[in-house]
Amino acid sequence: MATTAGRRPVTDRLPTFPWDRLTPHKEAAARHPDGLVDLSVGTPVDPVPERLRAALAAAADSPGYPATYGTPELRAAAAGWLERRHGVLAEPGAVLPSIGSKELVAWLPTLLGLGPGDVVVHPELAYPTYDIGVRLAGATPVPADGLSALGPRRVRLVWINSPANPTGRVLPAAHLRKVVEWARERGAIVASDECYLDLGWDGVQPVSVLHPDVCGGSHEGLLALHSLSKRSNLAGYRAAFVTGDPALVRELLAVRKHAGMIVPAPVQAAMTAALSDDGHAEEQKERYRRRRELLRGALERAGWQITHSEAGLYLWAAHPEHDAWDSVAQLADLGILVAPGDFYGAGGGGHVRVAFTATDERVAAAMVRERRSCWS
Ligand SMILES: Cc1ncc(COP(=O)(O)O)c(C=O)c1O
Repeated sequence: MATTAGRRPVTDRLPTFPWDRLTPHKEAAARHPDGLVDLSVGTPVDPVPERLRAALAAAADSPGYPATYGTPELRAAAAGWLERRHGVLAEPGAVLPSIGSKELVAWLPTLLGLGPGDVVVHPELAYPTYDIGVRLAGATPVPADGLSALGPRRVRLVWINSPANPTGRVLPAAHLRKVVEWARERGAIVASDECYLDLGWDGVQPVSVLHPDVCGGSHEGLLALHSLSKRSNLAGYRAAFVTGDPALVRELLAVRKHAGMIVPAPVQAAMTAALSDDGHAEEQKERYRRRRELLRGALERAGWQITHSEAGLYLWAAHPEHDAWDSVAQLADLGILVAPGDFYGAGGGGHVRVAFTATDERVAAAMVRERRSCWS
């Protein structure tokens, strides 16, 4: 179809949706007689906890427009969770709900007024939406892990992601503090995507950018994004929030009010219930812990090397003889689908990302195949 003369569709600025490239392998894996074991996309598969469904249902009669700012109960519950679980003192007034965190990642540069000529730094191996958000704003994405390599360039926004997708790497407080100091000296905003903060393994305790050990007690210039998708199995509800520098959050609120970026009232009620309760999150984490151990053991027995992976929902695995796409193909022959590491940056070409977001039944099916084939 012809495009209106002179118009450049936004899609011209965006890469091919990476997951489309995995489709042939998904089809191959699905032909396995015992069915597909999908360890590719990190989507929750366990039920939404009963008390969260009850909170959603109890708020079903919500005919009026909800507040973009969220209910006072939701903002208090978010601040309460951050203090209780992560030692972060957030002002409830500086909590702003978002429609899942992916939309905020994708629109943050635009909401902050960034555009052509503005540089946004994100990790070299990263969740692809940081790059997409910068492109949507027409700004310049720069993948860089070491900030000193950037030289005197003016940087407007720095994305950090600890625990990281895809590697599961956790940045210690001292490292995060250096990033914050670097950004403050240059007037750059730090946006910290903390959607796996509750999911540290083997005693690892990921730390928020808003923790006093990192930010010195001031949230100036900092934003932390939190998602309930993984912690509380709420990916289907689209439930997340941002907090940090009250002035920046006010700015985001002002734009989002104009733009109608509002979390539905029943979802706000479910989020309030989720953030007020830790029991369901601990139960879910225990399920993931068991699946992680099974999958990690199987991969290691078959000679795969696992790096980082100390938190989050993924094993970052490399086979000694195969690159990422060969590994994807080999595992697809066994009916197991994983994500090639180069989805997350050119440096990921030797790895695959193995999500442990499959049911116990599917993980058990993978174990049977491992015993028969050694997953080579
Ligand atoms: C690093 C990272 N950030 C953000 C998201 C988006 O999460 P959601 O939109 O479900 O809150 C994901 C989802 O997998 C992710 O891995």
